[in-house]
Amino acid sequence: MALNRQKTSFLNLPTPLQFLPQVSEDLGISLYIKRDDLTDPGLGGNKLRKLEYYLFDAKSKGATMLLTVGGVQTNHGRLTAAVAAKFGLKCAIVAIDDYPGEVSSNLLLDRIMGADVFLSKLQTGIPYEDQLEQAVKRVRSQYESAGETVYFIPMGGSGEVGVPGYYDCAMEIAGQSVELGISSCKLFVAVGSMGTYMGLFTGIRNEGLDLELEGIAIAPFYSDPAGHALEYYEKVQKYYNLGGNPNLSDFHISNDYTFGAYNNPVKEVREAVYYMARKEGILLDPCYTGKAFYGLLDLVKKGTITKGETVIFLHTGGQPGLNGPNHRQAMEAELLNGVHIL
Ligand SMILES: Cc1ncc(COP(=O)(O)O)c(C=O)c1O
Repeated sequence: MALNRQKTSFLNLPTPLQFLPQVSEDLGISLYIKRDDLTDPGLGGNKLRKLEYYLFDAKSKGATMLLTVGGVQTNHGRLTAAVAAKFGLKCAIVAIDDYPGEVSSNLLLDRIMGADVFLSKLQTGIPYEDQLEQAVKRVRSQYESAGETVYFIPMGGSGEVGVPGYYDCAMEIAGQSVELGISSCKLFVAVGSMGTYMGLFTGIRNEGLDLELEGIAIAPFYSDPAGHALEYYEKVQKYYNLGGNPNLSDFHISNDYTFGAYNNPVKEVREAVYYMARKEGILLDPCYTGKAFYGLLDLVKKGTITKGETVIFLHTGGQPGLNGPNHRQAMEAELLNGVHIL
């Protein structure tokens, strides 16, 4: 069925669904990884599937530039910069954050790819959303006065327009699972602005796919993740004219692995990153996939994921985050004892 919306295709799909032999043996489960970190361009990541749909919409509205928002280390900003560069559009990224922030990771990559970045210091006493809206308004009018037709993409690409990206991915995973002889399994994904989760949820529900979606929130953004998901789903349902009315209990998003903040350096998460890297040669990131994978490991340890179970972990990218100063310094303190001077 799919959602039947047009996109500008630039991804080399499908991404691989790979078995992880060493981790599987170690944990006593069958673990597969869906490599959405391998989507090109701009070093890849989950936002690109959404951006194929946003780009089509932008071009059909005559846009000359893409404008988006996020935290200083936004992966979505980096990938928007990459898409804009590839399709000859200008790009601007607005971030409310303490600056100069993580100058060494995504911010630098944004600039290498030619995007303008506008940082506004977080002010106390004014709601975050209001500060963001004001900053976007200012930047937007600056470019519009210079004659640009600006297309705005919401934080994380998590509006209604990008939803088909992960709807399609859910179908892709279900198809690959059948080929690999996998039937009915859990699918784990990191949850930030929730667009990836929502695309998968909508695809699984609307297509009747045999996947059990498990989200791991990576920051305490939502006091009631299922309630937020239901509200988001209702907007998606209206936008795409979908049937079926889910209940709160249909949304599975754990708030147990946020470690209290967004993008904070956490020892347990770093250890999950080292574990995957040393067992399988796959790099996770410390902000999103590292937290989600830590959650998965903990659920195995607790027996919530049972021995012999088949599980798919969605790798959503984000590896430039390894070079953010807060994470890099913590890792250097732990790892440099293995660097030997001859
Ligand atoms: C690497 C990575 N993984 C996961 C996510 C979460 O995706 P979403 O914001 O759609 O929930 C993001 C969002 O920025 C991300 O950059």
